[in-house]
Order: sequence, then structure tokens, then C-alpha cells
Amino acid sequence: MSEQDFYFNPFDPEFRANPYPHFPALLKGPPRQLNLFMPTTLIARYADVVSVLRDHERFTVRRPEIPFRERIDPFAGAPTILTADPPVHSRLRRLVSKAFTPRRVRELEPRIREITDDLVKQADQGREIEAMSMLANTLPVIVIAELLGVSAADHNQFKQWSNDLVSSFGQDMATGPSPAGLAAKDALRRYLGEVIVQRRANPADDLISALVAASDDAEVLSENELLAFVVLLLLAGNETTTNLIGNGLLALCRHPDEQQRLRESREFIPTAIEEMLRYDPPVQMTVRMPTSTTTVGGTEIPAGTLAFVLLAAANRDPAQFPRPERLDVARTPNDHVSFGEGIHFCLGAPLARLEGAIAIESMLERFPRLQLANPEAKLEYRGSMALRGLSKLPLLVR
Ligand code: HEM
Repeated sequence: MSEQDFYFNPFDPEFRANPYPHFPALLKGPPRQLNLFMPTTLIARYADVVSVLRDHERFTVRRPEIPFRERIDPFAGAPTILTADPPVHSRLRRLVSKAFTPRRVRELEPRIREITDDLVKQADQGREIEAMSMLANTLPVIVIAELLGVSAADHNQFKQWSNDLVSSFGQDMATGPSPAGLAAKDALRRYLGEVIVQRRANPADDLISALVAASDDAEVLSENELLAFVVLLLLAGNETTTNLIGNGLLALCRHPDEQQRLRESREFIPTAIEEMLRYDPPVQMTVRMPTSTTTVGGTEIPAGTLAFVLLAAANRDPAQFPRPERLDVARTPNDHVSFGEGIHFCLGAPLARLEGAIAIESMLERFPRLQLANPEAKLEYRGSMALRGLSKLPLLVR
């Protein structure tokens, strides 16, 4: 073990509120090790992060057994695309890629604009808005629910279940999942299970029907796998995109010069979205486990221990990004790792980028300024260990 010349504790709310000052120490040397709830190696440097994520043979996405895993597992033990290695991963990825095509995403654009306009319009009269409840929390859940083919009337319920479940993953490993998280897991699975039964009987033009058809055709997805898949899509597509919009708006408020630059040159919207993803990533880290004892960047990682892959730290590595602490809406190239890397690269990246671009552009268009309502106030972050997202973002917009 190296000497503890760094601080890393994703269970500490202070750390989660601002992890960035702790990354330079981790980026300086080889991967460090500590004992959180089990022996853990911190992979921070860009080159190390990329090499681990690309090496799916040496590093599995399976998780070590933790005592309450079975009770909170929203997938009820079924393999999912995110938690399976090849060949199961390859089979699941092929199947969903058939149903979740780039064309399906492109076709959503007018509808995403319409939903965004409706949400942003609500705030037209006011001087102050709360951007999370107004837009960031709402847009992604409506989009993913419509994509899956879930009734519009149930979006709020959906968001609540998804919040309760995601928050329960942030609890300290010693305390286990919250009762709200457990109840949400059961309710969500029951609800989506019923939608699958309905779509099998009466197919519609939605993603659940496409997945049902694809799996029935090839007989490659069991009933439990199909349900797990739909649950995963809902969870993966929800809070992540919420956090892209929230963290992105916050970055623009804290960098008024960059906000102005973007207002004057809208052609920077695509690079600005990539920069928001790099600068303050919605998914801060992911987890891998070496299948046998192995070495990364000079540090030996024992088999069966955890490797925390710190995407947010890699995005601030000066060896990869010149002046990484600077927000630059025109930054090119920008090979951030906020969507991961290798075979598990985010399946929803095109959708997330589209929603992020429409949301940020609409906010700039609608409001002559975006400014923190109270720049001195401490911002509150939601309780999840891997996801970084604001509870509230009060803004002055006039
Ligand atoms: C800004 C928003 C998003 C971010 C930052 C994000 C981030 C990520 C990351 C880091 C991974 C890789 C995890 C790993 O390797 O362990 C991932 C995988 C995944 N994401 Fe996203 N995601 C976002 C939005 C979405 C959306 C909108 C969807 C679906 C509609 C989605 C679906 C998935 C799926 C299914 C996987 C698993 C892919 C695989 O294992 O092959 N994500 N995402």
C-alpha cells in the first residue's frame, strides 16, 4: 500500500460535493490503494483508465458479492448488458442495438424540442427558476418513457421510483439499501413487467415492443432478461442525462465568459456539450474486478478486489487535456471518458448528446442570462456514490 497522501471517500458528502481538488494527487503517481468497504485500487490516470476499460478479458464487470445485493438488485439476478462479460454481453448488445437504432434516436429530435419548449415556457414569467425541477429532472424521464412506450401519465411515478432506487445505491455499504429503494425496485419491476405482457399481446411502435419482437424472433432473451433490460434502460437513461443538463448549466453559470462565447457562437453547442461531459461528468466512476492478479500502471491489483475506474479524474489528467481545470466550450480534441470506453461504451450516448444539446440551447435562447440565484450558497448533491447530480439549481434568468 502506498502512503496515504490522498483523500478519496465517495461516501463522504463533502467529498462528493467537490471531488475535483482531490484528483491531482491521484493523477501524479501509479494507482493508489485503500480499504473502503473492501480492498480497492483507484485507477485515475487517463492512460490507466482507458487500458482497464478496453481490457475486458483481464477485468470483469461482475461485482463481488455484498450481503444485501440480492435484495436490492433491480435485475433480480438476470445478466444485463452493463453487468455481463462476453459472450453474454455481446448477445445482449447485438439485440438491443437492433431495436435502439441511431435512426430511432434521430427521429426523436422534433419531439424532444417540443417537450423542452413546453417545460421551458412554464418559467417565462419569472425572474428566478429552479432548473432541476423545471427541466433537468423532467426532460430525460419523459423522453425515455416515451421511447420505451410507457404512458405519459406515469412519468412522475417513474421518476420517483428511479430516484429512490438510484439513491439507495449511494448508501454506505454497512447500512444496506433504504426501504424506499426496496419498495421502488418491486413497484418498478411489477409495472414494467405488465407493460411487457401488454406489448406482447398488442405490439406498438415503441422500444419495448421492438425488444419483445427481437427477443421472440431469435429466442435469445429470457423473460427475466427482457424485464432486466427494460429496467436498466430506464435507470441508465434517466438520472445520467438529468445530471448532464444540471451540471452543464452550473458550469455555464460559473464561467460567464464561456456562457457569453456560446451565446455568440451557437455552432459551439456540440463541443460545449462534450466539454460539459468532460468537466463535470454525470457518471463519476465505474467498477471493474481483475479476473486474476494483475498490474496497472505499476500497481499490483489482487484478483477479486475492486478497481474503481475514476472517469472524472481521467478527464482532468493534464497528460491528456491541456489546462484540464479550464472550461473551454470549443475544446477540440476532447476524448473524454464520460461515456466509458471499450465494449461497454454507453449505448445511449447519441440520445444523451441530443437531449443535452437541445436543453442547453433552449435555455440560452429563452433566457437572456443564466446566473446562480445565490452564488454564495452551498449547492446540495444527491446521494449516489457514482453519479454526480444537483438536488436543486436556483437560477436568476432575467
Ligand atoms: C449524459 C448521459 C449519460 C452518461 C454520462 C452515461 C454514461 C455511461 C457510462 C460511463 C457507461 C459505461 C459504464 C461502464 O463501462 O461500466 C454507460 C453504459 C450504458 N449506458 Fe449510458 N450514459 C448516459 C445516458 C444514457 C442513456 C440516455 C441511455 C439509454 C437510453 C444509456 C444507456 C446505457 C446502457 C444500456 C449502457 C450499457 C452498455 C453496455 O454495457 O454495453 N445511457 N453509460
